[in-house]
This record gives sequence, structure tokens and C-alpha cells, in this order.
Amino acid sequence: MDGEGCPTLLSSLHIFIAETPMTQTYPMDPLQAVTHPNPYPYYAELRRNAPLSRNDTLNLWVAARAETVRTVLGDERLTVRPANEPVPRTIAGQPAGEVFSRLARMNEGNDHRAARQALIKGLSVVDTESVFRSARAHAATLIGHSGAMNDEVLAALAFALPVRIVAELIGLPADDSLEATVRRFIACLSPASSIEALRDAHEAALQLQAGLHALTQDRSRMPALIDRMVSGGLDASAAVPNVLVSNLLGMFSQTFDATAGLIGNSIVTLARHADVTERLLDAPSDIHAFVHELARFDPAVHNTRRFVREMVCIEGVALQPGDAVLVVLAAASRDESVSASADHFSPDREQVQLLTFGSGRHACPGETIARAITAGVVAGLVASGFDFADPALHWTYRPSANVRIPAFTFMDAA
Ligand code: HEM
Repeated sequence: MDGEGCPTLLSSLHIFIAETPMTQTYPMDPLQAVTHPNPYPYYAELRRNAPLSRNDTLNLWVAARAETVRTVLGDERLTVRPANEPVPRTIAGQPAGEVFSRLARMNEGNDHRAARQALIKGLSVVDTESVFRSARAHAATLIGHSGAMNDEVLAALAFALPVRIVAELIGLPADDSLEATVRRFIACLSPASSIEALRDAHEAALQLQAGLHALTQDRSRMPALIDRMVSGGLDASAAVPNVLVSNLLGMFSQTFDATAGLIGNSIVTLARHADVTERLLDAPSDIHAFVHELARFDPAVHNTRRFVREMVCIEGVALQPGDAVLVVLAAASRDESVSASADHFSPDREQVQLLTFGSGRHACPGETIARAITAGVVAGLVASGFDFADPALHWTYRPSANVRIPAFTFMDAA
């Protein structure tokens, strides 16, 4: 395809921030928006820009409207990794890189399709009601054992508990060190990780693979979820790295930050909406509608990226091979064309596709599990009588270019 009929629109070269007076407290760019206290007015401006706007500083095209986001994510000429760097250079050829190269999330074409189908087949054995109950029970135990509520308990609910639930689903014995090992592994996904953190990530990759590999060797004793993945065609060859073990490990990395973000953002929303907390106390089963709306209103995953493999014309812009697009899922989630009064938090609204879980061929196959875990944890907190409106509860956002995860502290009033 050539660029004819697809002239680059001049207006698309203007991005909002270039025209924003310095006095406004908008984030500087869509990456900073992820951890901004209130990025949503900025996201609204991004949606008002041309459907694809150029951010020269970041060297990215930016898609923020729901329709454009779906178009970008639905087009196979835009891929999840750059053609010249299928595995980040920092980890290529090393243990974490070997896992990365086998993840469905990071592949395209036949490898992706086959692995995805097998993953979906495996995940289909999961009973999300049981996941919800298990998460709620674990949350109650954790809160009960902790005595007083503090920031460590909230962090354990957000990070350690979802890891434990995924371990249960896979049949992996979960000890207290599992969360830390998963955390060490996911450092390999960040370009900002130090050499030491990457060294640690490789060790963690080997450690996690060893545990998971042990589960996959005896077909007669395999947990149902893994058995389905093997019958779905995932390579479970005798040695690691293999596709099965890599994607089982990938379930932990896909869950970790994203679910922590959804749980943390739920706490923030309840801290701001006492009426909603009251409602959940009166009608606990409304928790599922609450989490669905929360995932639209203040989602965890704020953006993802696509890389142009061959020239493609989208919304009048000729994207060239090598171009990268920042797909701002959190801006698209509040698009009025999808949800009326989108800036209003309303668990009673009609449920629409949640863009924080992506769209198209790479859309999250763990969405219902993630929502069930979140609902269980938040239900456990609500039932414990946790005071979401406690004036001592404060938060900032953990550094991240794509996932919005609050870090809580309890501060006495001065
Ligand atoms: C709140 C929690 C979660 C959020 C917000 C989330 C979000 C996402 C998003 C946005 C993608 C697509 C990325 C892209 O297209 O660039 C994705 C993919 C994926 N997610 Fe999730 N996820 C969550 C939890 C989970 C859980 C619990 C699992 C599994 C247990 C999971 C498994 C996966 C897998 C395997 C993929 C890759 C799918 C593919 O490439 O075909 N996720 N997730």
C-alpha cells in the first residue's frame, strides 16, 4: 500500500500539550498521565485532538478515541513488538528473554494464534465464582491476621494475593516468596531496569520455570488448566524453556501489576465515594458491577503500544514501517461515544467492553479472572469494616509508564 489517498493531516501533527498553557496542571505527556493524580481532563483533550496525533518528543503516534484504539488494535499490520527487536535487546538470549520470546502476548501470526487458543482453552476451566470466593476468603484471613490495617497489608492484598490465586489456579504451591520472585521477574519487562535488576530477573525466570516445569511433566497428575493447555497444543517438551512453561509464567506477569492497579484504584474510588461503600455494605453482590465500572472509570492498564510492520493508513494518517503508536486505553475508556456521561462513576450503567483489557487479537483472556480477584479482595476489605474514608489514608502512584497503581500510606494529621 502506498500513501496515496492517505495524506498526513496537518492537524494530526498538533498535540494538545504543545498548546497547553504552563499554568494548567495537566500531565506533560500521555506517559506521565499514567501516574498523574487526575489524568482524565488531559485524556479528554487527547480525544479532542486528531484521531492520531503525533508526539515528537516521545516519538510516538497517540490514539485516544475508542474507535481509533479499536482500529489500531484490530489491524494486523500493527504488531506488539517492533520488527527489529522482537525481544528487548537488554534481555535477548538470556533466561528472561527466552521466556519473553515465547509469550503469546509478545508474538504475532501463527505462533500467537496457536498459543492464544491453547491458553483460552486452559483458562476456560476456571470457575470465576470460586476465584471470587477464594480471593475474598484470603483477603479476610490476611486482614484478620494483620491486627491493625497498614500500608503493608494493602500492598499484600494488591500484589501477593492475586499471585496466590493464580498459583492456586495453576496448581503451583504458593509460599511467601512467590510474590517477590514474580516481582523480580517482571523487572525484565521494563526498559528502565538496572543491570542488577535484570540479573535478578534472569534468576527469577529460572526459578519460576523450574517450579512450573515440575507441574507439567506427568500428564496423569497435571492440574486441569495445564492439561487443557497441553491438549490445546502448547509445547510441553521435556526441557525448559518451552512455550507451555513460558506462558504459565506469563500468567503471573500479566496478572501482577495490572491486578494490583485495579485493586488499588478500587480503594481510591471507595475513599472518594462514601455512598458507594455504603451501598456495597448493604448489597455485597453489587461488588461485580462496582469492579466493572471501576475498570472503565479509573482503569489499571492505561496504555499499550503497537509497532507498524508495513505502511498502513489509519484515520487519514499514513503510518510508516518503524512508527510506534501509543494506544491510550484509559482515554478511550471515557469516550462519550461508548459511555454517556463517561466522567461520572455509575456502577448501574450498561456494561460495555472494557478497553483496559485491550481489544482485538491480543485482548486479555484473563479479564473475568482479574475482575473476580479484584471483586473478592475489595469485598473482603468492605466486609472487614475498613474505613476507606480514613483521613490518614494517602496515596501516590508507583512509577510506571503504563499501569496506574496507587501506593498507600497512613499519615497522622499534623
Ligand atoms: C486487572 C488485571 C488485568 C488487566 C487490566 C489486563 C490487561 C490486559 C491487556 C490490556 C492486554 C492486551 C495488551 C495488548 O494488546 O497490548 C492483556 C493481555 C493478556 N492478558 Fe491480561 N490483564 C489483566 C489480568 C490478567 C490475568 C489475571 C491474566 C491471566 C490469568 C491475564 C492474561 C493475559 C494474557 C495471556 C494476555 C496476552 C493475550 C494475547 O496476546 O493474545 N491478564 N491483558
